Amino acid sequence: MQVIRMMLLFMILPGAVVIAQHQPVGEEALGTKKYEQYEKPEACKSCHVKFYQQWTQSMMSQAYTHHWDEIEYFELAVKHGEQDENFVDVAHGCNGCHAPIAFLAGDVPPPRPEENSRANESVSCDVCHTAQEVPADTSFNFNFLSNPGRLKYGNKKGKESPHHDTKYHKFTTTPRLCGSCHNEKSPFGVWVKSTQLEWEEGPYADEEVYCQECHMPKSVGRSAKMAELDTIAQHYFPGAHVNGKLAGVIEMVAYPMEREILYDVPAEIKVELYNGKAGHKFPTGSVEDRIVWLNVTATDAAGTTYHLSVDKKGFDGEEYTIAADVLAYQDLGIPLDDPDFKGLQRDGVPFGDRIFRMPYFDPQGRMTIMQWNTKSLGVDYRIGPRETKVETYTWQMPDDIPVGKVTINAALKYRKLVKPVADFLNVPEEESEPVLVNSASTWFEVYE
Ligand code: HEC
Ligand code: HEC
Ligand code: HEC
Ligand code: HEC
Ligand code: HEC
Repeated sequence: MQVIRMMLLFMILPGAVVIAQHQPVGEEALGTKKYEQYEKPEACKSCHVKFYQQWTQSMMSQAYTHHWDEIEYFELAVKHGEQDENFVDVAHGCNGCHAPIAFLAGDVPPPRPEENSRANESVSCDVCHTAQEVPADTSFNFNFLSNPGRLKYGNKKGKESPHHDTKYHKFTTTPRLCGSCHNEKSPFGVWVKSTQLEWEEGPYADEEVYCQECHMPKSVGRSAKMAELDTIAQHYFPGAHVNGKLAGVIEMVAYPMEREILYDVPAEIKVELYNGKAGHKFPTGSVEDRIVWLNVTATDAAGTTYHLSVDKKGFDGEEYTIAADVLAYQDLGIPLDDPDFKGLQRDGVPFGDRIFRMPYFDPQGRMTIMQWNTKSLGVDYRIGPRETKVETYTWQMPDDIPVGKVTINAALKYRKLVKPVADFLNVPEEESEPVLVNSASTWFEVYE
């Protein structure tokens, strides 16, 4: 009798059974699954040979094991939780995005990477291909619903596999999947990562140019060893760690307002920067760590080089966007258990250079790189998708400048992690070495 009633319910309200079950996502999903429910990426390797190789070389396969992640998680986040119990859950939550199956299995904090536990699988094949939906308006803080099992969600209809079931699933092809980890809210309710939200507000959303189009470009190949040739989505996910992805993100031109300038009249040079390539702001993501700056020099006819400082525009908070001799990051003293910590040089780039950034502030109003300790944000002086920013350099030339040609060189440079922080925390140099995003040059003629 009960069985019949159940069956009737099922037939009348097909959705009711699913809705009746509360399916926890985000923080609430801690410990709701078991490791054994997820397949290891090695299980996919035998057939999806190429995707496996691409993925193992991408950052998402190293989200838990990468040096800087290990340092920030164990030396800062976990230690912060030990100093202040309000931050224990936050430290657990790092794993929701960086080691999702460890989080879902309740294995937090997971063993160190050297212990080679399943946390090392990081953002694995099964994490994305069993993510069913985001049961909320906005994707953020790992609020994807994980439904591990035989069924793998994909982007094509009618595919068959000897190892698993497959299903075309629109969600998998959209930015809502990516946003569940690429948007992050701090415990103070501040958006400390908003790549998908930036995309949504920008021009690419209207044109339906998804994350997948730029980060999983399509080319002809076989998605599995035994599959037919097809146009398939590559799995290298290039981002800020791939110099070829960064190159030319911003188009640049430089020009003087006059081509011929009297030696005692200030020269005025403009640099125009256009974000023609990124579907979100530049920089995006871990904005608390990243630094993009514009370095401009002039070289006179005798070969002497001068560094030019950017003209102030006068907007609120501009002081954070021009490199200066100030200290920041004093809240590192909390996890390091050094209450007198004086802080570190804020920028580590030549003073007077323009910085494209958005500063994050701790509850005391000090600039921080600990995004989970962010209570407010400063001015957003990043370059939005298809936005142009113009910087002006007014330069009073030295009195004795030789007549002749002056060459202006403008270089836009990028560091994944502010150098003074990287040096202080012993983060390997590749994370702070400068990358040239683009450059522009121009010239003018000095006369007497
Ligand atoms: C024994 C071989 C084999 C193994 C192992 C295997 N797959 Fe597949 N998979 C296939 C084949 C074959 C297809 C269909 C490809 C085609 O026809 O284009 C496929 C298709 C897919 C698709 C695309 C489905 C769609 O609708 O677009 C996804 C996603 C997928 N596999 C994920 C995985 C994951 C994740 C693993 C590891 C947990 C895995 N596969 C393991 C053979 C395999
Ligand atoms: C389960 C969480 C999760 C999901 C879902 C996810 N990502 Fe990521 N992604 C991460 C994490 C964590 C990192 C940072 C890896 C690291 O530690 O450097 C990352 C890194 C990246 C990077 C490299 C960034 C860099 O700094 O070089 C790109 C590009 C990227 N993801 C794109 C995507 C796209 C596109 C999607 C959707 C198809 C997506 N991600 C879905 C968690 C996720
Ligand atoms: C029109 C192409 C385009 C689209 C659409 C796009 N991106 Fe990007 N993305 C780029 C380029 C180019 C870069 C390299 C420059 C940079 O770091 O911003 C990049 C960089 C990134 C990075 C590394 C950022 C950093 O500074 O650490 C992440 C993460 C990322 N994208 C995720 C996403 C996600 C998630 C989406 C969808 C919501 C998306 N991207 C949509 C082109 C795109
Ligand atoms: C960060 C999330 C993410 C990870 C990790 C990931 N994939 Fe995918 N995969 C996707 C998305 C998104 C698509 C669909 C792309 C699109 O719609 O443009 C896809 C597509 C596929 C396809 C179908 C490709 C095609 O175009 O026919 C296969 C097969 C596949 N993935 C297997 C794998 C395997 C195997 C791994 C691990 C080695 C893996 N994926 C890791 C997100 C992911
Ligand atoms: C909502 C998902 C999410 C949460 C929660 C999260 N992260 Fe991340 N994290 C990401 C993504 C996505 C990126 C890559 C963004 C980018 O490339 O700019 C990232 C990047 C990083 C990076 C920079 C990696 C690099 O190679 O440059 C570090 C370090 C890091 N996270 C540590 C942490 C720590 C520690 C916590 C917990 C306090 C944490 N994350 C919480 C999603 C998350």
